[in-house]
This record gives sequence, C-alpha cells and structure tokens, in this order.
Amino acid sequence: MSESADRASIHRRLEAVGQGHLLKYYDLLPPGEKQTLLSQLAGLDIEGLPALVRDYVQNKPAFVLPADVQPADYYPFNADSAARKWDKARFRKAGEDLLRAGKVAAFVVAGGQGSRLGYEGPKGCYPAGAVTERPLFEMFADQLLAVKRKYGRAAPWYIMTSPLNHSATVAFFEQHAYFGLDPKDVKFFPQGVMPSLDIKTGKVLLAAKGEIATNPDGHGGAIKAICVSGALADMKQRGVEHLSYFQVDNPTVKVVDPVFIGLHAAAPDSSAQMSSKMTPKAYPEEKVGIFCKINGKTEVVEYSDLPMDLQRQTLPDGSLRFIAGSIAIHIISVAFIEKLGTDPAFSLPYHRAEKKVPCIDIETGEPINPTTNNGVKLERFVFDALGMCEGGNGKKGSIVYETDRVEEFAPIKNAEGVDSPQTSRELQTERAARWLERAGVKVARGADGKPQGVLEIRATTALEAEDLMGQKLPTEIAAGTSMVL
Ligand code: UTP
Repeated sequence: MSESADRASIHRRLEAVGQGHLLKYYDLLPPGEKQTLLSQLAGLDIEGLPALVRDYVQNKPAFVLPADVQPADYYPFNADSAARKWDKARFRKAGEDLLRAGKVAAFVVAGGQGSRLGYEGPKGCYPAGAVTERPLFEMFADQLLAVKRKYGRAAPWYIMTSPLNHSATVAFFEQHAYFGLDPKDVKFFPQGVMPSLDIKTGKVLLAAKGEIATNPDGHGGAIKAICVSGALADMKQRGVEHLSYFQVDNPTVKVVDPVFIGLHAAAPDSSAQMSSKMTPKAYPEEKVGIFCKINGKTEVVEYSDLPMDLQRQTLPDGSLRFIAGSIAIHIISVAFIEKLGTDPAFSLPYHRAEKKVPCIDIETGEPINPTTNNGVKLERFVFDALGMCEGGNGKKGSIVYETDRVEEFAPIKNAEGVDSPQTSRELQTERAARWLERAGVKVARGADGKPQGVLEIRATTALEAEDLMGQKLPTEIAAGTSMVL
C-alpha cells in the first residue's frame, strides 16, 4: 500500500475513535519521520483505545476486596519450624537435579524506566556492588558463572528490555564481553509498550510531532513478550522448563535458588506453574504487596487494597497475621507462560499510574515538561498471573516460600532513603558479615550492631554462606575496613 493510502486508512481509524490529533503535524514531518510515525500508529491497537480511555482515564478501576481473604500459607525459612516442618534437603536436591539437567533459566525483567532512581541508562548498568561498584548486570552474571561451575551446566539467561533501553543494554554487554558468559546463553528481547494517555481527556499524548508518547507495558508484559519475541521457542528448543524470575534492581537476589526451584517443581501442594518468595513484613504499614489466599487461591493484594485493620491483625504470638510480603521473586514454568501468552482468556489486567509525561502541546506544537501528573500510564503486573494458576478447593496450587530479607532483598529503587544505594550497601555488608561470621571470622560491629565497614563477597567467591567454609579467610575484619572477597 502507498504511504498516502496508509495515512488515509490510519487517519480514518484514528478519527473514528477520537484520536485524529495524532496526525495533526504529519504533513510537516520530513519523509523519514512520516514513515516512523505511521509504523508506530500501525502497531497500536487503535480500536482498543476507547475501552482503555473509558476504563482507566474517565473511570478508575475500583478494587473490590473479595469476602474470603485469608493469609497465604507458606513454607517457613526455618524448615524445622513447629508451624510447618519440611525437608529442605530433599527440595534442594530436586532443584539441583533440574539445574544439572539444564531445565532452569534465569529471567530478569529489565525494561523499567527507573525514574525514581533517576539514573541515566538501563538500570542494570547501575554501579551497585557495595565496594566494587560493579554494575547490577555483572553481579547477576557472576552468579551465573558460579552456578555453571557448581552444577556443571550453564543456566541460560533471558533479559527483558524495553524498546527504550534495548540497544543500550545489548551494547553494555558487548562492551563488557558478556562479563565472561557465553553470548549464546544470554538472550535479550524487548517488551511491548502502551501509549501514554492525557489524564484529563484520554487522548494519546505526542512525545514529539512525529512520535507517540509510550511507556513499557509493565513487568507483566513479560508473558506476551516471551511468547512473541522468539524467547519461548528458544526455551523450548533448549529444554528449559522453569524460569527463575527476578527484578533488575536487587543485587542480592539468588539468580537461581535450588531449594526454591525444587519446592516449585516438586512440593506436594505445588501446581508447578508459578511460585513466589516472600519476606515477613517488618511492620503493618510497610508498602509491599501481601500474599493472601483469595477463595482458596494464592494471590498478591497490593498494600493499598488490603484494609489497614487486616494488616494490623496479629496472631497470639504477636506476629502479623498477614505477614507474607512480596519481594517480586518467582519461578514460572515455561508451559504456564505459553498458556497465559497464547490463550486470550488469560489476559492480565492493566493497572493505572498517574505520571508526569513530557509531551508536546497539541494546539501549539510546543514541548511541555510537566510539573504535575499529566498522563496515565498503563502497565501489567506479573504477579496478577498468580490468580490464573490452578488451585483452591483442595487442588494443588501456587506456593510461597519464606526467605530472609538480609539474604536476598537489597533493592535499589530510590536515589535516597528507603531502598536506596545506601540501604543496599548496608544490606550487602550485613549479609557478607553474617556469612563471614558463620565461617568463624570476627567482624567488628558497632554499638548499633552494624558492621563497621563496607563488605562485599563476589558470587564467584561464594554463592551462599556454606561456600565460604574451607576458604582462606582473614581471621578478623577491623572497624573501618572496606573489603571485597
Ligand atoms: P519498578 O516497579 O521498580 O519500576 O520495576 P521501574 O520502571 O524500574 O522504576 P520506577 O518506578 O520508574 O522508578 C520493577 C522491575 O520491573 C521491571 C523493572 O526493570 C524492574 O526490574 N519492569 C518494570 C519492566 O521490566 N518493565 C516495565 O514496564 C516495568
């Protein structure tokens, strides 16, 4: 079809849904930009826009708390706990067998915009190592090098980028020679985007005269992106059955955890579709999603949706009743992703976020750098897939495994304050200190109990505390030491 016919047909379709303004500056664009805009518009679900505007801009989706909300069951970190005894060694073995058989891949979602951190470039390039300031991507790569050494088999690594950071991410890996990994075991694919909508009118915003304003479609966009990008076919061809899902901003995450993988795949109550890790909430008001059992099924309820009186309820021992906080670590089976990604009945819902979206004034064509929220971004959340797992009514379902916060949750979200580079450094140091102390090293701690220095243990030195046993270590770490092992 000719360019003018393309334009005419897209224009008709846009006019029909009240979005004709998107071509207002078309005739003024240089030829190359004309084509780019038309391609961008052709990729848009134009006919789907009115429903999005109605449901997310003109109306705000209301969360209705179901009547039957209970705390989710979980496998306690201490497998000898009176609440639920379980055989950690058995599940570790099951997970290790899967790793040795090449049935597990690491999967990081790295398509976010990291706007709270305010870092230029893909967040995975952020210098996160407490002492070495190694980039997040390198910290994960180190783990995968150690995993290959330990289990004799490389776990492939799938990296979801967004169209906004894809080339920068791939270039970063190339510049660093894939951090020692075999490039054929590292696969990048971009997630999809959604148009950003004007908060008042629902009109799609223009980033420039020849470009629609878009945002990555959320970590939940991973399901579709895996299916359409060729990643699913690659996983199947390699015989990968389970994905170890994690977020790019948590340097202490276990990129693959044999115990968790084993529980997911082999626990008697697991449907082996999608499993989750939790850490106990530190206090009732803590802003994390909470694992609940809704009509018998495990789901995450956002902190803002669970009434505060429920969040404050305690058990006779004083602990919180709704204690299981989500830390965005899951195992997802490849078969489950294929089912969700190819059957429209399982489409994940959108969530609405109000944001400042740089755009142009449609009347004047002048750029606007908003100081208040002017746009609505629509994103999908991966944890909504939990509700699509089988389960409830006595059937096997989605399981939750408790972990220790210091061991594997040191996120970098904000430039300062909570979940910042500073708190992450402290957590990395605390974890290193604990591992060293378990190996008999004396670590100087202050009156507040915190290690008096900065410590970092590279994953190639130890993936877990036990790996330090038998290694040549200092006998003592004095106050003020900054040390990498
Ligand atoms: P966050 O919710 O922290 O969002 O993402 P963000 O975009 O990184 O940061 P802010 O909110 O703008 O400050 C949690 C994880 O999900 C990934 C992020 O890269 C991070 O690993 N993510 C988020 C995606 O992969 N795609 C998205 O569209 C959104």
